[in-house]
Amino acid sequence: MYVPPMVVTNDDLAKLVDTSDEWITERTGIRQRRFSQGAPTWVLGREAALQAIENAGIEAGEIDMIIACSVTSDYCTPSLACMLQREIGAESAACWDMNAACSGFIFALDAAYRYLATGGASTILIVCSEVLSRITDFEDRSTCVLFGDGAGAVVVKKDEGRLFESCVRSQGKSGGALFARSGKFTSPFVKKEEIEKYDLFRENPGCHLVMEGREVYRFAVAAMPEMINNVCEKAGIPCGDLDWVIPHQANIRIIKTAAERLHIGMEKMVINLDRYGNTSCASIPMCLDELNRSGRLKRGARIALAGFGAGLTCGAIVLEW
Ligand code: ACO
Repeated sequence: MYVPPMVVTNDDLAKLVDTSDEWITERTGIRQRRFSQGAPTWVLGREAALQAIENAGIEAGEIDMIIACSVTSDYCTPSLACMLQREIGAESAACWDMNAACSGFIFALDAAYRYLATGGASTILIVCSEVLSRITDFEDRSTCVLFGDGAGAVVVKKDEGRLFESCVRSQGKSGGALFARSGKFTSPFVKKEEIEKYDLFRENPGCHLVMEGREVYRFAVAAMPEMINNVCEKAGIPCGDLDWVIPHQANIRIIKTAAERLHIGMEKMVINLDRYGNTSCASIPMCLDELNRSGRLKRGARIALAGFGAGLTCGAIVLEW
C-alpha cells in the first residue's frame, strides 16, 4: 500500500465545513485521512505496485497482465494500467483498466482468477489507486468528511494460495445514488439543451462526487453480508470458520452491522478507515497489506473480502492466503 504523507484530521475539516470530530467519529468511525498534495493517481499506484512486486519477490518482467482500478484516473487515455507499465517496466504485460468504483478490487481479483484459471495469464499485478480529493466537494459536509487518498496493489500468481469462490453483481438502476461526472462536451457544435436532455443525473449538476448517503448505506448493509454468505455457502466454508473478513472501508456502522448479521466477531473484521477514511477500491488491498505486514496473516488463513460501491456494484471473494 501507499498513502500520501499529509494527514488531515476531523478537526482540520471542521475548519472548512460545519462539522465536528464528534459527529464524524460517531457516524462513520473515521478519525483522519490522507490527502494528496498534488501527487496524481498514477504516482500513488506506482508506489504501491513497486512494493507489491518487491514483497512478492518477482521481477517486473515476469508480470504478464496489469489490471488497474480507479475512479480518479489521471488521463482518459492512456489507461492507468499502461501508465503503470511504463513506470515499473513490466514490458511483457497486457494492460487494462476496470471501473467498478469501490468494488474494483473484488471485480479485478475475480477477473484475474479467471485469466489464471484459463491460462490467459500467469502473473497478474492488480493496482487500485485513488486520489478522491480531486473529485470531492469540500463545501459539502455530507461527503467531504468520508473520503481519503491511497493505493493498494497485489501480485496474483497461479498455483499460489487458492480462491474458493467469488461473486460480483451490479445494480445500474441505482447509479444516481453515487456518481461523479467525467469530461464536459467542448465541441463548438454542441447545444446546451441537448447535454441536459441526456444527463441522467441532471437534478444534481456539478462536477464533484455526489452521494445519497442513506441509499448507499441501505444497499451496503444488505449487500455485504449477503455476498459473504453467498460465497461462503458455495465454498462450503461456514462464516464462523473464516480467519479474517476484509470489508470495504466506508463506514464502521456498515461493518458492525455486517459482522452482526454474519455472527462474526469484530476482532476478525479488518479495519483501517479510522486512519485513512474511504479510499474506494484501494481500501481492501490496503487492509490486506497492513494485516500481512503485522504478521497476523498466516499461510492457509481463510479470508473473505467484500466490497460495494458506485454503480451500484458489490462483490465478495473467499480465499486461502
Ligand atoms: N457533520 C455534521 N452533520 C452532518 C454531516 C457532517 N459531516 N453530514 C451530514 N450531516 C447532517 C445532515 O445534514 C443531517 O442533518 P439534518 O437532520 O438536519 O438534515 C444529519 O447530519 C443526518 O444526516 P444523514 O445523512 O441522515 O446521516 P447518516 O447518519 O445517514 O450518516 C453517512 C451519513 C455517514 C454519509 C451515512 O449515510 C453513510 O455512511 N452512508 C454510506 C456512505 C458510503 O458508504 N459511501 C461510500 C460507499 S461507495 C464508495 O465508497 C464510493
